[in-house]
Amino acid sequence: MSDRSAPRTVSPALLGMEGDWLPVTAGESGAFVFRSADATRYAKCVPAADVADLAAERDRIAWLSGQGVPGPRVLDWYAGDAGSCLVTRAVSGVSADQVRAEDLRASWGHIADAVRRLHEVPVSSCPFHRGLDDVVAVARDVVARDAVNPEFLPLEQQHVPPAELLTRLGGEIPRRRDQAVADTVVCHGDLCLPNIILDPGTSRVSGFIDLGRLGAADRHADLALLLAQARETWVDEGRARAADMAFAERYGIALDHDRLRFYLHLDPLTWG
Ligand SMILES: Nc1ncnc2c1ncn2[C@@H]1O[C@H](COP(=O)(O)OP(=O)(O)O)[C@@H](O)[C@H]1O
Ligand SMILES: [Mg+2]
Repeated sequence: MSDRSAPRTVSPALLGMEGDWLPVTAGESGAFVFRSADATRYAKCVPAADVADLAAERDRIAWLSGQGVPGPRVLDWYAGDAGSCLVTRAVSGVSADQVRAEDLRASWGHIADAVRRLHEVPVSSCPFHRGLDDVVAVARDVVARDAVNPEFLPLEQQHVPPAELLTRLGGEIPRRRDQAVADTVVCHGDLCLPNIILDPGTSRVSGFIDLGRLGAADRHADLALLLAQARETWVDEGRARAADMAFAERYGIALDHDRLRFYLHLDPLTWG
């Protein structure tokens, strides 16, 4: 979702939708997320101006649910002058950012398997594209509007002007574009830990959620976000390295750290 500073709450009640809905505070975007009182459904609401983003998420959920990848189902959709709302079936379990480091460790191999299976969905069948040029165009727009949220930047970049950050990445774009052509898969698009739901009973992945940015892209775009965020969970550098290696082996890839860094640094410039 693009609007991280939405000024006015949009809720199922405001939109005249039935049922008891409780606010969920854990959303990372400017959307307003609610859970039904019986915890079987989620409602994601946005102001009318953001209807296209939410419709994009709806279409991606609907498509992915036909591909054998675990995730939500679209249950209801509402769009009107006061805003729009997407109701999905709850994926049962706990977000991967909410579990202890040892539980994330227990799930780590299952996460690698689930991500690999997502990336193995035939990319030719995917109607959604998230090519590098598209993402760079979004970043240019966000930067030009001076809308980058410094909190999303790595600490050492928070005092660097975003235009300078984008210029630093610019020189790499031709090479990254060539690499992406040879390594394009169906990517989640925002593969951070809150968007991976784990089954606490089995440690397996019960589903991927928050699919608004799903599309064909370089697999490193997904791996960069996931590995960087998981790194903050592991207690020390040694365990972080071991986790990277375990992931790489289970997923089946030799990690290209420069390429991961490129995508990690590009992502914060695309939100705003
Ligand atoms: N269908 C769903 N199943 C399970 N949890 C969900 C579902 N939809 C939303 N959530 C919960 O609500 C949080 C915010 O929803 P999300 O779609 O990720 O919003 P945002 O785009 O703001 O990050 C998620 O991190 C998750 O905890
Ligand atoms: Mg999310």
